[in-house]
Amino acid sequence: MATSTPASTQKKDDWSSQKYVKNASFVPVLGAPVLQLLDPQPDEHILDLGAGDGVLTVELEKKCKSVVAVDASAAMIEAAREIGIKNAHVIDGHDLAEHELANGQFDAVFSNAALHWMKKDPSRVVQGVNKCLKPGGRFVGECGGHMNVAEVRASMHAALKKRGINPEEVDPWYFPSTKTYTQVLEENGFRVDYIELIPRLTLLTTDIAGWTDTFGFSFLRPFDSDPAERQRVIDEVQENLTFSQDHGAWYIMYVRLRFKATKIRD
Ligand SMILES: C[S@@+](CC[C@H](N)C(=O)[O-])C[C@H]1O[C@@H](n2cnc3c(N)ncnc32)[C@H](O)[C@@H]1O
Repeated sequence: MATSTPASTQKKDDWSSQKYVKNASFVPVLGAPVLQLLDPQPDEHILDLGAGDGVLTVELEKKCKSVVAVDASAAMIEAAREIGIKNAHVIDGHDLAEHELANGQFDAVFSNAALHWMKKDPSRVVQGVNKCLKPGGRFVGECGGHMNVAEVRASMHAALKKRGINPEEVDPWYFPSTKTYTQVLEENGFRVDYIELIPRLTLLTTDIAGWTDTFGFSFLRPFDSDPAERQRVIDEVQENLTFSQDHGAWYIMYVRLRFKATKIRD
């Protein structure tokens, strides 16, 4: 299947596959229940939206006929190719609807831990998913939901406000409630079969500072030209969250939004 990368997707890449492996290897591991909800079949063609470094995509590939992995980050797609995902492409989820992949060829679209990064226009993303799917195709995913990582988000907002920066302008996350996302799905041609917010206390592989360095890049962008101040912000966010440490291990309170939807119209 041929695909091209439109110029509009070639943006600054904030993702680092090295940092992801070091600080966030729990993300694909904890994606197993979403894969189970998808229930991929041996004859199915599946699109993995926001596939990242491909660790979970590899598991998906074992269970179906073919997988196309797409992600907005060139670094992550390169990492996915390095572990053997051949059909991997740099595409922003917002551009999916105009892409040649959006031709009703997929049995299912799968997405783990990625949709909440597609904040600019979540409806547009779902429209793209719809166009990729055959009639009756499934959209199964998990992303951050209402009140996800609230303690780290609040600590980052406080650190930025203290420095005279409006955190709302750099907060990259869309964490919808079940009501909000049900509406987005229903307005864009889906029937919601299942949707749930799942609180999940999550053990980190490193600490809050490692997590912030990996996922907090948008909040930290105002300090890109001042590495010392950037590090001070990271340290301050962690210092404000020492209560989240237990016996040397660091935790964040994740809230996942997990759903399964079926395409019922274009
Ligand atoms: C936390 S990672 C999850 C990766 C993978 N699905 C997993 O379970 O390990 C989030 C991914 O979403 C991707 N992403 C963020 N914004 C995106 C966008 N607008 N379109 C497509 N992918 C995007 C990032 O590049 C990153 O690889």
